[in-house]
Amino acid sequence: MPDQVTRPEVTQDELALALDRARQRTLLLTDLDERELTTQHSPLMSPLVWDLAHIGQQEDLWLLRGGRAEAQGLLPAQIERLYDAFEHPRATRVQLPLLPAPEARAFLRDVRGRVLDRLAHADDLFAFAMVEQHEQQHVETMLATHQLRDGEPLLGTGAALPPGRPVPHDAVLVPGGEFVLGVDGADEPWSLDNERPAHVVDLPAFRIGRVPVTNAEWQTFIDAGGYDQPRWWSARGWQHRLEAGLERPQFWSADGSRRRFGTVEDIPPDEPVQHVCWFEAEAYAAWAGARLPTEQEWEKACVWDPALGRRRRWPWGSTPPSTDVANLDGAALRPASVGAYPAGASAYGVEQVIGDVWEWTSSDFVPWPGFTPMLYRQYSEPFWGGDYKVLRGGSWAVGGNAIRPSFRNWDHPIRRQIFCGVRLAWDAAPGGSTDV
Ligand code: AVJ
Ligand code: FE
Repeated sequence: MPDQVTRPEVTQDELALALDRARQRTLLLTDLDERELTTQHSPLMSPLVWDLAHIGQQEDLWLLRGGRAEAQGLLPAQIERLYDAFEHPRATRVQLPLLPAPEARAFLRDVRGRVLDRLAHADDLFAFAMVEQHEQQHVETMLATHQLRDGEPLLGTGAALPPGRPVPHDAVLVPGGEFVLGVDGADEPWSLDNERPAHVVDLPAFRIGRVPVTNAEWQTFIDAGGYDQPRWWSARGWQHRLEAGLERPQFWSADGSRRRFGTVEDIPPDEPVQHVCWFEAEAYAAWAGARLPTEQEWEKACVWDPALGRRRRWPWGSTPPSTDVANLDGAALRPASVGAYPAGASAYGVEQVIGDVWEWTSSDFVPWPGFTPMLYRQYSEPFWGGDYKVLRGGSWAVGGNAIRPSFRNWDHPIRRQIFCGVRLAWDAAPGGSTDV
């Protein structure tokens, strides 16, 4: 067989570098004065100074104490408790006697110095990979906080992106049949508990959007009265639309502009839409004569290689993401226009499936058969079966190793401050054509 699968190896050096990259991002987003860091920019978010110390607290817990919360960490127990996400909901964190930013930074440095000493002698590297991803996830959360903040821009307008290209906004056929959903640690050493284990799933044929839904397409939905017609909305969705007064994506204005990290600008028509909640995504899909993909469909379209009958590591093959194939790592501060990454297409021809925007799926967050919780037991387990919908593929804001084709994110169906968008799906007409 020419397609020898090489087992990916994670090395100490690679992890040290990844931890350092995550830390550079953390420090960049929190390099602000104390008032900015301690302000609650939205009840949905923590003050940034909470995320800052929480990143260190988790690193201390998982890497210096092996998860034994009863063991003494580098913070006094009553201070450490302030950073327990289950004990203190986001809306209340601003009232806590949090560590001032200089003390939080010193704590993070102290933890990291000890962690790097341990890393040099560690055999099992998984916990280090898990903690690196935890920090990268909080970096994305802090970017969402920055986006919610009022006031002058603090982060600039973002790095340049490759231009889009004319690309059909059509539907790609994924023929029915078995594929392998999820991964095992041997093949994806960085994968988290909810992505495992790999198992065979048989799916009927379906079609899926070649590219995500764009701002221009969303504007057409608005202009067609999509937000005013209950027939496109589920009962729960319509109730939420009324209660929340939804009229357009978050951060859009009626005058055709949007606010992005403190800058007001024209809405770029060819960018994937972001900041729409699951209920809006569901309504848009109904109006468009489509539906949302299940996460099984999404993953098959992303990563299955039908010619070889096995998964690729990435949609485009085995090489890690680069700026030629995906918009990740947060520098751009926005999604790339559709068509920007022809070299990033999957075997089925689906584009921009990794990076740009998290894509809402129709699926509830449930465990794969054979699920086993990881060291950080409460990462996934408390959320099974809750009021959550799964999002896939990562956004432009995802950094480091916090994304894979198997990666599963989740949030409440009313949330839209995250960098989330939509890709449509359709049942394949029996024996039907691939045209939309
Ligand atoms: C996987 C993004 C839903 O932010 O709630 C961070 C990640 N878990 N700290 C979240 C997480 C604990 C989680 N999401
Ligand atoms: Fe956390």
